[in-house]
Order: sequence, then structure tokens, then C-alpha cells
Amino acid sequence: MRRRLVAGNWKMNLLRGEAVDLVRRIGDELAVTPASRTRVVLFPSFVLLDTVKTAFGGISGNGGLALGGQDLHPEDKGAHTGDVSGAQLADAGCRWALAGHSERRQNHGESDELVGRKVAAALRNGLSPIACVGETREERQSGRAFAVLERQTRAALAALAALVEQPDVDAALAYEPVWAIGTGETATPAIAQETHRFLRGLLAELLGAERAEALPILYGGSVTPANAPDLIAESDIDGFLVGGSALDPEKFLSIIRASG
Ligand code: PGA
Repeated sequence: MRRRLVAGNWKMNLLRGEAVDLVRRIGDELAVTPASRTRVVLFPSFVLLDTVKTAFGGISGNGGLALGGQDLHPEDKGAHTGDVSGAQLADAGCRWALAGHSERRQNHGESDELVGRKVAAALRNGLSPIACVGETREERQSGRAFAVLERQTRAALAALAALVEQPDVDAALAYEPVWAIGTGETATPAIAQETHRFLRGLLAELLGAERAEALPILYGGSVTPANAPDLIAESDIDGFLVGGSALDPEKFLSIIRASG
């Protein structure tokens, strides 16, 4: 059975004191009552990584929490002002890295090809990538959603093909419809399941059936305690990439609990 994964993407939010408070509230609760089959990863902004890592140390067994970077440069070092490399993320204690979040694609013009190189950089540095894909409202309304998702997934996962030979390496795909991110509008469970099923089929083609069955596909886009139970009940939804609700410890814990 696929292990579930819930990721909290803090985006450009929280100051150090707020971050420590949030980590403690989530971690202390999970240390007492661990999530049974769900892994939990936090994605703070780069300047908070060290603070959050230190806060983990004050929680029994880290509360089972792991750390991830919201983005990474495709190269491991060099003259790239303002960027952070996979090597630096790993050195800062990260186990995971997001690649191709739609806010990076939109705000920073990231291409499919660049996202693929970022996934490769994560794997090269021992980080588990979460490759994000998602269509815009216009693309869904004009019937092009699956074509866009296929193009994005093929590019993002070109590097993941190596995973077939490395069954122990963790990775995940996140389906995040752009029209659902931060809008309060969520994909219905039926739409999300249909899309995840499509993505699973594509993974099988790219990575083989066995690896495709084992790879978690997360849903992201206005996930809340209210809609998480119906979404996770779908057979191809294996967890969540959570933005706004991840900043509220009660809501985030409730989404983790809903995931099992
Ligand atoms: P949201 O963000 O939960 O605030 O919609 C999700 C994401 O961007 O990962």
C-alpha cells in the first residue's frame, strides 16, 4: 500500500517566532499521537530552514516531521545570485524539495524543461522531489487539461526514469490545478480522482507499472479540514500539498488526521 504524504507549503509566510510556534504545536501533538500511515513534511522559506530544523530538535522524535525546500536551482553551485542549490538544501537538513510549483512557473517563468532539471538536481543531491503539475482554468475549460498535464509530467519526470533502478528513492507527484490554488475553490473529488488516475497511467508508461503504483500522487489547491476526507477517500489520491491551511496548526493537524 502507498504511504500517504501531507506537505505544508508555507510559501513566503511567517517570521521566525511564528515558525517556531507553529512547528511546536504541530510536532508536540504528533509526538503524542503519531500519524499512523502518513508522512508529514514542512516547506518553510529558505531563511527559516535552520530555525525550523532547530525547533524539530525540541520535539520528541521530531514529531515525525521532515523538512523540505520550496525550490532549488538546477545546478549545485555557482554564480546564481539569490538562488539556493539542492546541495545547500541537503546540507541544511532537507529531505525533500518542491519543483515546478505553479507560483514558480507563473511568477518566475519556469519552463517544463527547467522543472525537469530541478527534479534531476534534487535526486542528484539525495533529496526526494515533489514535482508539481497543474492546468489553468482556461486550459481546463477549453478541454486541454490532460494535454497540459501530460506535457508537464513528461518533462518533470524525465529524470525520474532513473528511479526504476533505485526503488528505495522517495519521490512524489503533486496535482495542483492553478484555478484551485489559494482561491477557496477545490477540485471535486471526482475531478481530482479522474486526473490522478490519468497521471497514474502516465507514470506507468514512464516508470513501469510497479513504480507507478508505489509513487504517491498528492492533491493541492484549497485543501481544508472540510474537503480533505472526501478527497483522500479516492483511490488515487495519496495525500496533500497544503498552502493556506498549513499555517493554522489545528487545520493542518486535522488534514493530517484525515489522511490516516
Ligand atoms: P493553497 O495552496 O492550499 O493555499 O490553495 C496550495 C499550494 O499552492 O501548494
